[in-house]
Amino acid sequence: MALQDFDLVLFGGSGDLSMRKLLPAMYSRDMCNDLPPTARVVCVGRNDWTPLEFIAAIETNARPHIKKFDQKVWEKFLERIVYVSLNATDVSTYGKLVETLRRDEDITLVYYLATPPQMFARICENLAESGLATPNSRVVLEKPLGRDLASARQINLDVGKVFAEHQIYRIDHYLGKETVQNLLALRFGNILFEPLWRREWISDVQITIAEKIGVGNRMGYYDTSGALRDMLQNHLLQLLCIVAMEPPVSIAPDAVRDAKLEVLRSLKRFTPHTLAQNIVRGQYRAGHVDGQAVPSYRDEPDAPDSSRTETFVALKAEIDTWRWAGVPFYLRTGKRMSDRLAEIVVRFKPIPHSIFNQPTSSFQPNSLVIRLQPDEGLRMNLMAKTPGEGMRLKPAELELDFNEQFKTPRMDAYERLLLDVLRGQLTLFMRGDELEAAWEWVEPILQHWEQDDSPPVPYASGTWGPAASSALIGRDGLQWREEALPED
Ligand code: BG6
Repeated sequence: MALQDFDLVLFGGSGDLSMRKLLPAMYSRDMCNDLPPTARVVCVGRNDWTPLEFIAAIETNARPHIKKFDQKVWEKFLERIVYVSLNATDVSTYGKLVETLRRDEDITLVYYLATPPQMFARICENLAESGLATPNSRVVLEKPLGRDLASARQINLDVGKVFAEHQIYRIDHYLGKETVQNLLALRFGNILFEPLWRREWISDVQITIAEKIGVGNRMGYYDTSGALRDMLQNHLLQLLCIVAMEPPVSIAPDAVRDAKLEVLRSLKRFTPHTLAQNIVRGQYRAGHVDGQAVPSYRDEPDAPDSSRTETFVALKAEIDTWRWAGVPFYLRTGKRMSDRLAEIVVRFKPIPHSIFNQPTSSFQPNSLVIRLQPDEGLRMNLMAKTPGEGMRLKPAELELDFNEQFKTPRMDAYERLLLDVLRGQLTLFMRGDELEAAWEWVEPILQHWEQDDSPPVPYASGTWGPAASSALIGRDGLQWREEALPED
């Protein structure tokens, strides 16, 4: 379906996200001829740049992030760029934006707020006051969407005064990743898994997002956030929702979002007692990643000496429903880990009895590994007979590598999500009540940590996190997937 002509306005248009992700994503769509000929990207920033100075800034800061560069496409893309200098929080400076934007009915107007969340309310008010918040315009909110339940509610309230819920697109870029949608295809495009997708057959689920990178130059933001707010409250919980939700009646936005909301509301609440047992927070120390020496979190540039911000979190969640009661969902994320990896592991129960000449304990329970990155694919672990005489069974793998199977070029998460916004497709965006439900569940953890003086447990960079993380899952007689893999 061809896109309607649009003006996409990037608040924070000269900022890091615009340069690293948003402008390269739009360029890439332009390269695939997805953008209408007169569509524009209007970048808004405080600097008093001339158009040429802004183009120079894009050349320096955005172009290096483009994977497939083509000079002709680039030149055509640059013609779409308009730079408007204004102070986003001062309505008296919005005149130039009002002059620039096209407000015809057949032009889609999108405001992408790639700014700190403290500015959301004021920008929305200013758009309304300038007559720019038209009934068919849309607003995109970038994370962090609050830092606790109260601030998330406030954002919903403030933005909701100007835009109706169907005009608000709350981004979680993990939902734009190819494999996350493939998980929907796997669960609801096949009959095979649904009967097994429940407590009777599944023993546990592990969801890991591990990164090799440290905090880099984001200390100002990160030290006031930490892994729980930065990754768990949003990305990990969204993945959990897609794995655990009931089959929605269709792929329509509210059908999917209702199903996800149900999961968030069914998460077992932590109490001070269960919190201490079921959550581990860690902070990286110096170590080696890919053979390179890397510093401790507290020695990173601008890190407070005695920072207690967690760079790792692992927890055991439970979902109180007929489908999932008693099935642990282990979630974990960390920076400066041994590998860059995002995957979901669904482990099935062991066989009840062995008819072969080997004990049941020698049968590795089946598992399904859904890999989001670095490579995208699915792996089903089965038991198979080893060739030759006699019946010896050994673990074997059925593998679906998406790159091998489908040769079509990949789309980055931001490309897909931006296209969805421009098409008015809300399924992959969080609804306001979902956002609040996720914060509601996380809130007791935040409160507990605030009152608890103990620092996060240290772990060496280049490892899989603190030993307490292995102990957390080990208490249930289980291991993280990498711990259970046979040595090469
Ligand atoms: C962002 C976090 O939302 O996700 C970052 O703020 C993190 O801290 C990033 O590095 C990870 O995203 P991806 O797509 O690289 O796994």
